[in-house]
Amino acid sequence: MSTRFLGRDQFGHPSNAGKLLDPAAANQLLEEWVPNERLRLHMRQVAANMKAWALEKENADEITAAKWEQAGLLHDADWEKYPDDHCRIIVEELERREVDPEIIHCIASHGPRVFGVEPVTPMDKMIYAIDELSGLIHAYSLMRPEGYAGMEVKGVMKRLKDKTFAAGVNRDDITDALSRTNTTLDELIRFIIQHQSAVV
Ligand SMILES: [Fe+2]
Repeated sequence: MSTRFLGRDQFGHPSNAGKLLDPAAANQLLEEWVPNERLRLHMRQVAANMKAWALEKENADEITAAKWEQAGLLHDADWEKYPDDHCRIIVEELERREVDPEIIHCIASHGPRVFGVEPVTPMDKMIYAIDELSGLIHAYSLMRPEGYAGMEVKGVMKRLKDKTFAAGVNRDDITDALSRTNTTLDELIRFIIQHQSAVV
């Protein structure tokens, strides 16, 4: 059993439903907890993908989309300073700050193999599917002289099959995550290229 298993599947308190950190507080948390600019960029990219997915694919209202976005923005907030306790620290911090339990559950379940929490809601399932794929696609953009411009799904597929490329990205997790959703690998890659290329 992983030492990072959270050992529970209830997070936050129902009375905090609808409560988000205001954007300034969320950004301040990132600035303080995540000195690594590249990791902050990763979280902003996942946030942009999550918000766009909620609005475009789930017909979410603005509040719901803001929840998806905030879960994406904060999901790795404790990774840099507390690698051995990721994501327990950010989960407890957001519980202390009385954030919406769905946001906290989403963060707690973004790596079920690692944290031992099963994704339940569409928001949970999509952060799990988007997270690793977003990282691989960004790594691919960094090795292309033209960055995201003209990037095609087949190029990403090729890198995905090459296990030596972005070796830290767990391909099995991507397959497992997608099997829990109604989307395809092809559709999700296309979506991520489109939405995170603008986040720099
Ligand atoms: Fe991540």
